[in-house]
Amino acid sequence: MNGKDICQELDRLQKEGADFHQLQVRAVELLHEADRRFDWTGIYELFPDNALRLGPFLGAPTDHVFIAVGNGVCGSAVAEGRNKNIPDVTKEPNYLACSSATKSELVVLIREGDRIFAQIDIDSHQLDAFDAEIVALVEEVAGWLAKAYVQSERGQPVS
Ligand code: SME
Repeated sequence: MNGKDICQELDRLQKEGADFHQLQVRAVELLHEADRRFDWTGIYELFPDNALRLGPFLGAPTDHVFIAVGNGVCGSAVAEGRNKNIPDVTKEPNYLACSSATKSELVVLIREGDRIFAQIDIDSHQLDAFDAEIVALVEEVAGWLAKAYVQSERGQPVS
C-alpha cells in the first residue's frame, strides 16, 4: 500500500466508528506492512511532562518505553521540531539502541504547526533504508494522524 491507500483505509475505519486507539494501532500495522525494510514500527506520544511514551508498535519489544525530550533520535526530533532520517545509526551520537540489528532509523513527527502530538518511529535492519518515497509515505500517514489528534482533542466525532 502507498500512503494514499493507507489513509483511505484509515478513513474507512473512522467512518465505521473505530476509536482513536484502534486507528493508531491500524496505522502502525499498515505502515509496518508497507515496506519489507520496516523491522520495527511504532508511535511514541508526547506527554505534558516532556516525555515520549511508547504507544502501539510492531517488532521486538524495547526497553525504551519512556524517552525524555532531547534524548535519542526520538527525543531530539521533538527538541529540534524536525523529522530525523538516520541512514547509519552507528554514526549518530544521540542514539538509543533498541536492537543491535537496527542499522537505520526514521522519525516523523505527528504535528499541527508548532504543536507536536506524537511521532512515528521506524527502524530498519538495512543501512539507509528510508528513501524519499518512503519518507513521503510515512509523512502522509503522520499528516492523517495529526488530523485525528486534533479531532479527538476537540472532542469532535472522528469523521
Ligand atoms: N532509537 C530510538 C529509540 C527508540 S527505538 O528505536 C524503538 C532513539 O534513539 O531515540
